Amino acid sequence: MNDLVQPKRKRLLSGMQPTGTGALHLGNLAGALSKWIKLQDEYEMFCFIADWHSLTTLYNDTEQLANASRQVAADYIAAGLDPDKCSIFLQSKVKEHAELHLLLSMITPIGWLERVPTFKEKREFLLEKGDGDESLSYGLLGYPVLQSADILIYRANAVPVGKDQAPHLEISREIARRFNRHYGNVFPEPQALIGEDTGVVPGIDGRKMSKSYGNAIYISDSPETVAEKIKNSFTTPAKIRKTDPGEPENCTVCLLRRLCDPDGYTTSWEEDRLGERGCMQNKKELTEIMNEMLEPMRKRRVELLSDPVELDRILEKGADRAREAAGETMKIVREVMHIG
Ligand code: ADP
Ligand code: TRP
Repeated sequence: MNDLVQPKRKRLLSGMQPTGTGALHLGNLAGALSKWIKLQDEYEMFCFIADWHSLTTLYNDTEQLANASRQVAADYIAAGLDPDKCSIFLQSKVKEHAELHLLLSMITPIGWLERVPTFKEKREFLLEKGDGDESLSYGLLGYPVLQSADILIYRANAVPVGKDQAPHLEISREIARRFNRHYGNVFPEPQALIGEDTGVVPGIDGRKMSKSYGNAIYISDSPETVAEKIKNSFTTPAKIRKTDPGEPENCTVCLLRRLCDPDGYTTSWEEDRLGERGCMQNKKELTEIMNEMLEPMRKRRVELLSDPVELDRILEKGADRAREAAGETMKIVREVMHIG
């Protein structure tokens, strides 16, 4: 079958789950969100909040979900995503994701899903905890199929995400290929746009910054909380006195300085290495730089959250645009599959 008509502008799509309180941290900002912001002028963008995905782990704790989703939306916009350029919406408001998910689940071999590293890790974690097989849901196994539907429903060309999402994107490409082989060229193979430059942002304990490790600095943290977290941050273990040489590439405070001050950090790193500055000075300067960077975002998110009607209007507008694009794809999918 010939190639079917594809959207005119190149499309990008990405999303995050509203887990925890929904507040986003510097790892989310640097690893994903800041890239979306840079790309929104060039591409037709869809950035959504993956509330259905969060049910794979939070199915028994759904009261927080609506509020957490709003927090994610506020952080997206406060950080610089522009709702006039980019469709921002909740996954659950565009039911076409679920319809395509169902159809894709029919052509996806279980073996592909059982081999996905995130599934294997979660399975081991739950079994070690003694939760047994009962805690492993069908939805958790199918997580990458729903993610594929999120992407393919917009016939997206690329997906900007952090490195940990690469295996999910691999599944999405395999599903797209399999669908196209059976039914004709409907879906472009979505490319993962993984910025190698950022790498993994460390949390205050030196491990990967993550909601689930309690080591994150959030966009929404107050200046005092930021100061407190930086004060307690991990630094070079062998640097006890100011004159001891530091290892900035192994020091959380220095790595966060590079992240927040990409044009000016090199002098501080050199002085640290030569034992010409102490950790106290590093922490004090980082606190100032980080608070200055976060202040406009904090202000904007407070404004957004204080007007829930306006925020819902933005999300509704985003969902309308998304529904239109998703509806066009579903029409083609139903046609090529001879359904409905
Ligand atoms: P968390 O680990 O806090 O639950 P998520 O898994 O929800 O974060 O990640 C959402 C997005 O942010 C993904 O694209 C992921 O790659 C990116 N991301 C999360 N933590 C980091 C980090 N520490 N460094 C770089 N990118 C990150
Ligand atoms: N799995 C992603 C994460 O945990 C969230 C997500 C769901 C996503 N669907 C997506 C990301 C589609 C990109 C594209 O961060």
